[in-house]
This record gives sequence, C-alpha cells and structure tokens, in this order.
Amino acid sequence: MLTLEQIDSIDKEFEDHLAKVNTAQSLETLRVHFLGKKGKVTFLLKELGALPPGERAEFGRRIHELKNHAESQIQAYASKLKPAGAKNSDMDLTLPGLRPPAGHLHPITQTIRKILSIFSKMGFQAVDGREIETEFYNFTALNIPLDHPSRDAFDTFYTRHGNLLRSQTSTVQIRIMERHKPPLKIIAPGKVYRPDTVDASHSFMFHQIEGLQVDEKSTFSDLKGTLAFFLRELFGSSTKVRFRPHFFPFTEPSVEVDMSCFMCHGKGCPVCARSGWIEVLGAGSVHPNVLEAAGISGKKYQGFAFGLGVERMTMLRYGIHDIRLFFENDLRFLRQF
Ligand code: DAH
Repeated sequence: MLTLEQIDSIDKEFEDHLAKVNTAQSLETLRVHFLGKKGKVTFLLKELGALPPGERAEFGRRIHELKNHAESQIQAYASKLKPAGAKNSDMDLTLPGLRPPAGHLHPITQTIRKILSIFSKMGFQAVDGREIETEFYNFTALNIPLDHPSRDAFDTFYTRHGNLLRSQTSTVQIRIMERHKPPLKIIAPGKVYRPDTVDASHSFMFHQIEGLQVDEKSTFSDLKGTLAFFLRELFGSSTKVRFRPHFFPFTEPSVEVDMSCFMCHGKGCPVCARSGWIEVLGAGSVHPNVLEAAGISGKKYQGFAFGLGVERMTMLRYGIHDIRLFFENDLRFLRQF
C-alpha cells in the first residue's frame, strides 16, 4: 500500500532528474518518466483509489501538489530550452526569417555616382587620388605662388611632418599627368579638408569632383559643351549655362560656371537668391605651367579642368539647407534619399 515516504522519494527523484536536464529531449524523457501514462506520478494517482477512505484526502493533496509542481517545473524548463529544442516547442520553423534591415548609399555617394556616370558617357575615366598630400601637389605644381593665402595654416591642415590634408581635388591632375600621357580624360571624386568653422554651409571636410581633359586640341568651347551636357543631364534639358570670368592659378583663362535656376528657370526665387542663376563650378583652360610641372609639354598639349563641390550639388538637388546633416549619421535624415 502507498506510503507518504513513497511520495517523498518520488518527489526527491523528480528533483534529482530535473537538476540534470539540459536539453529539450532530456526534459521530455523526464516528463514521460513522471507524468506520462505509465509515469511515477500517474502511478501514485492510480494507487490513490486503493487507500482507505480516511487517508485519501491527505495522500490526494500531497500527490496533487507533487503533480502540479512537476508540471509547472517542466513548463518553466521547456520555455527556457525552447530555442535549442524545436521538436517540442511551438516555434514554427517554416516561417521565413527576419530580414535584416538593408542599408542604402549615402546621398553624397549617390550624387558622386550619378555625376561619374554622366561623365563616363563622355569618355571620362574615374580615378582616385590621395587625401594626405605634399605642398608640391596641393599648391606648387598647381601654379599657386608661395605667398598665396590658401597656403596659410589658417586655410590648410598641415601635419607635423610638413605634409597636409589636401584642400582640393585638383591635386589629382598632377598625380595622373605624371604617370599617364595625353590624351587624358579623367574625373576624380574625393574628400578635401579645410579648417573652416562648421556652420550650415561650411564643413572641415567635404567632397569635390575634379575633371581634366588634355590632348592636342581641346578648347574652351569643348569645356563649355562638356559642362553644359553634364548640367543638363543632372538638372534637366532646359538648363542654361553661363561662364563668368574669374581667377584660378591653375587655369588661364578661368571661369566660374553658373547654371540657370532649376527651380524658377531664371525668373528669380529663394533657391537662386533671386538672381535666376546658381554658381556650380570653377573651371578653365589648364595653365601651361601646370602641364609642365607634371612633365607634359605646355606647347604641344592643351586642355581644360573643372572642379565642383559634391555637398553643394546634393543640397541643390534635394533642397537641403544645412551641410551638417550629411555628417551626423541621423537615419531619419538619411532614409529620405
Ligand atoms: N580647386 C578649386 C577649388 O577648390 C576648384 C577648381 C576651379 C578646380 C577651377 C578646377 C578649376 O580644376 O579649373 O575651389
């Protein structure tokens, strides 16, 4: 006949087994062993009927306590072990996985790629330069005199060893012409650095794209045609292009390039500061001194160069008013592009 000791010993046995459970399978073995049809706890319940009526209440209470305890322990373990043991869990293995959120290209990268693809249609080859440069490539070879203000430490980041962070991508003109002889058609995107105080339109780091075409016959009108094609591809076919005389040491003659305002088409609006025109590039005919500095005859060869600011182009394209937004990594901003 059933004794209270028997119940205690099954209780203890259950606890000992439970302590060893570490997989869903061993938990299931334990469940069958105690709560299954032929399990030990089930056996106790069956034996209950054979007891004298006076003892049934006490034994019944103890056995049900044990059963409830065993069931809740098994359930608690099951939820802990669930991920490892799918067999007995309610995890649906046929569901598709969670797709990790896919990123996308930064708006600056998108603009660079768009611009490179337009120039590649005209046969320009994309090339890379260096961000740490020497004075020779950033200034001297570009015909920038020793007393030019841009060489000042307030306008250029110098390293302790006399190198500098390039302040313009025009450096790539020299690096390419030293290694490759004309005819050349290159387009060079990249970061540039200037110690400007950061505000809505200035950053100590931004991106430029430099273009260079050198051969025996490229002229100023080729420059104009090239830039007009570029700006019409980017801002629409009705875009007009205007050259204003300017000065850059590395080009002679030099111009600043305006395009008609894509917003008001020349009538005057806030985007173009009511002028109808937007300044977008610097450009000109490559100065013979620049060709010679890179080892190319300034008598035999000629060509044109131009440079533009990528942030500025992107701000215009999307109506962005603060350059700092590009570099803050705020996904609420970046997701819009
Ligand atoms: N390097 C100039 C700047 O940073 C931009 C520029 C102007 C590039 C005229 C050129 C050029 O190639 O011909 O402001």
